[in-house]
Amino acid sequence: MKTMKDYKCTIIHLVVYTLVVFEKVAAELQRIDHGPSKPDGSLDILVVGDWGRRGMYNQSKVAFQMGKVGEELDVDFIIATGDNFYDHGLIDEEDPMFFESFTEVYTSNSLQKQWYLVLGNHDYEGNVLAQLSPVLKERDSKWLCLRSFIVNSGIVEFFFVDTTPFQEKYFIEGKHNYDWRGVLPREEYVSNLLKDVDMALEESSAQWKIVIGHHTIFSASQHGNTQELVDQLLPILEAKEVDLYINGHDHCLQHISSQDGRLQFLTSGGGSKAWKGDTNPWNPNEMKFYYDGQGFMTLHVTKNKIGVAFYDVFGVIIHKWSTTKYTHGVLEQ
Ligand SMILES: *[C@@H]1O[C@H](CO)[C@@H](O)[C@H](O)[C@H]1NC(C)=O
Repeated sequence: MKTMKDYKCTIIHLVVYTLVVFEKVAAELQRIDHGPSKPDGSLDILVVGDWGRRGMYNQSKVAFQMGKVGEELDVDFIIATGDNFYDHGLIDEEDPMFFESFTEVYTSNSLQKQWYLVLGNHDYEGNVLAQLSPVLKERDSKWLCLRSFIVNSGIVEFFFVDTTPFQEKYFIEGKHNYDWRGVLPREEYVSNLLKDVDMALEESSAQWKIVIGHHTIFSASQHGNTQELVDQLLPILEAKEVDLYINGHDHCLQHISSQDGRLQFLTSGGGSKAWKGDTNPWNPNEMKFYYDGQGFMTLHVTKNKIGVAFYDVFGVIIHKWSTTKYTHGVLEQ
C-alpha cells in the first residue's frame, strides 16, 4: 500500500520532472526590450549587411549615406545581417579589424545608436566567441552581437536567427575552417533553435513580426536560395504569419514577395563589395526589386504600416514598398 509520503514523493518528482523537461523544451531566446524613442511610437531602423572591409569596396560611402539618412529619419537602432568582418571574422577580441571596419567606419552621430548584429558564415570562419564577447561592447558601446535573440519594440518584434549552422555544406566540404564551438552536435542545435523560434513567434503578441538571419531563404543572386531554410525555417515563418524575412549573404539589394503577398523576403547585403551582374531569372510576379550594387535598407514601422526603402551608395532611394495592417493578423495591401 502506498503511504502519504509516497504520494508526496511522486508529486515532488512530477514537479521536478516537469520543470526539467520544460526548461529543456523552452530554452528561451534572450529577449531585449528596445522601445521606440519617438513620442508617436513609430520606429525607424537602418539595415546593412556584408560590410566589414576596412572601409573599402565603398563600405565608407555606404556608411556615410547611412549616417545622413539615419540623421534625417532619427533612427532608433541599426540591424546588421551578418558577415561582419571579411574574410575570416575576428581573430580575437583585440583584433584591430574591429576598429578599422566598424568603429572607424560608422562614425556619423546618427549611427552611434545600438547595433543588433547576427553572425554570417564569414564570421564563423574566425573566432565566433570574440564577436559574442561582452569585451567588444566595452570597446564600442553600440556593438551587440548574439547568436539568436529577440528585440521587442512594442508594436514590432524582431527575431534574430543564427542561420549559418543550418547550411550543411559548411560541415562537409572542408573548404574553410569554421568555429563550431557551442554549435555541436549540429542537429540538436538546429532543432532546438527552430523550436525556440517557433515558440517565441507563437507567444508574440506584437502587431508585426520580423525575422532576421544572415542567409537567404529566396534569392536570385549568386548564392540563391538556402534549401535548408526553405525546408526548415520557412514553414514556421508562414505558419506564424511573419511579415518580413530580412537577410544578407547575397551582396545585393533585393525584394521578393511570396505568391500570396504576405511574407516579404528582403536582402540587404550591399554593405561593401557587391556582386555585379550575378543574377538568375526569377518569376516577375514575385521579384519586386533587384539591384546588384551597394547600399542599405530602412524600415519605418507604425502600428498600422510598415515601409521599406532601399538606398544606393549615393543615398538615392531606388525602391520603396509598404504594407498596412489594421486588425492584428489581417493584411490589407
Ligand atoms: C562604388 O560605387 C560606385 C557607384 O555605384 C561604383 O561605380 C563603383 O564601382 C563602386 N566601387 C567599388 C569598389 O565597388
